[in-house]
Amino acid sequence: MTALTRIPATAMPLPTDIQGFTLSPSSPSPRLLSMTFSREVVEAFVEAVAEWPMQALEYKSMLRFRVAKILDDLCGNTLQPVLVNTLVDRATGGLQVVPEGLDDVEQADDMVKFATAVAHLMGRSNFDAMSGQFYARFVVKNVDESDSYLRQPHRVMELHNDGTFVEQNTDYVLMMKIDERNMAGGDSLLLHLDDWEDLERFYRHPLAHRRMRWAAPPSKNIARDVHHAVFDTDREGRPIMSYIDQFVQPRDFEEGNWLADMSESLESSAGTLSVPNPVGSFLLINNHFWLHGRDRFTPHPELRRELMRQRGYFTHAATAREA
Ligand SMILES: [Fe+2]
Repeated sequence: MTALTRIPATAMPLPTDIQGFTLSPSSPSPRLLSMTFSREVVEAFVEAVAEWPMQALEYKSMLRFRVAKILDDLCGNTLQPVLVNTLVDRATGGLQVVPEGLDDVEQADDMVKFATAVAHLMGRSNFDAMSGQFYARFVVKNVDESDSYLRQPHRVMELHNDGTFVEQNTDYVLMMKIDERNMAGGDSLLLHLDDWEDLERFYRHPLAHRRMRWAAPPSKNIARDVHHAVFDTDREGRPIMSYIDQFVQPRDFEEGNWLADMSESLESSAGTLSVPNPVGSFLLINNHFWLHGRDRFTPHPELRRELMRQRGYFTHAATAREA
């Protein structure tokens, strides 16, 4: 059996013919690219989309693509190819996006419009059953009574993929920080599959490709279970993953213990990145080969964090470099 090919972080040179934004390796890892939009472009974007409140983008799907075009035009049409190619590039596949000047919760709607524009240059965000919209905003406080770890502070949210218990394709995940007060800790955790020491051990195991049952708790508003294996193989023959510890329902002792072993391996991986995500910035990752989670916070009675997420499918994969 041939060994898995792991793609190093530096496989591709970064594009240089770009306008309105910069692109560089991020400090946590060259796998995660840092994309910063100039204040000038951000202000021009906010002004150009001011006629549409968020409700307009909620009601009219086409406007999400219109705001995307406006942003790309402001970047001399150099943004779209960079987004399309980066998201499917196995060497990277992840971005931290910083729109300069969008850094206060008062600008929350502009933040969501900006993130929507970026997402809709390479994809289309799915309906989010938790919010009933194409995006979800939610608040994390010091005390939480929900039925999953999504909003619970003081403990790690383990590494996982999104979309494991829905039937929609979930090619990308976008996670934005809208507000943050009295927060110590709670950084985003990211693990690229090619940086996981035990990838080969688990991917080669017979249970890796056995269909398992995935079921969500009531708050997710998903009535039906789905069935799929933890691992799959992409068109290039490389491992991809669809896994979350809280919602997989092992059918027996063997599956349960294999999953528990894998969970321990993932949580102890030295390849995990800890990424601070300042207010107004967002992470945009390929959901098939990046796992994400969240580090624990320090309790504080006035703790408040507000997040926005979008998940969706790629619309431009056929024109991307690797397709
Ligand atoms: Fe998630």
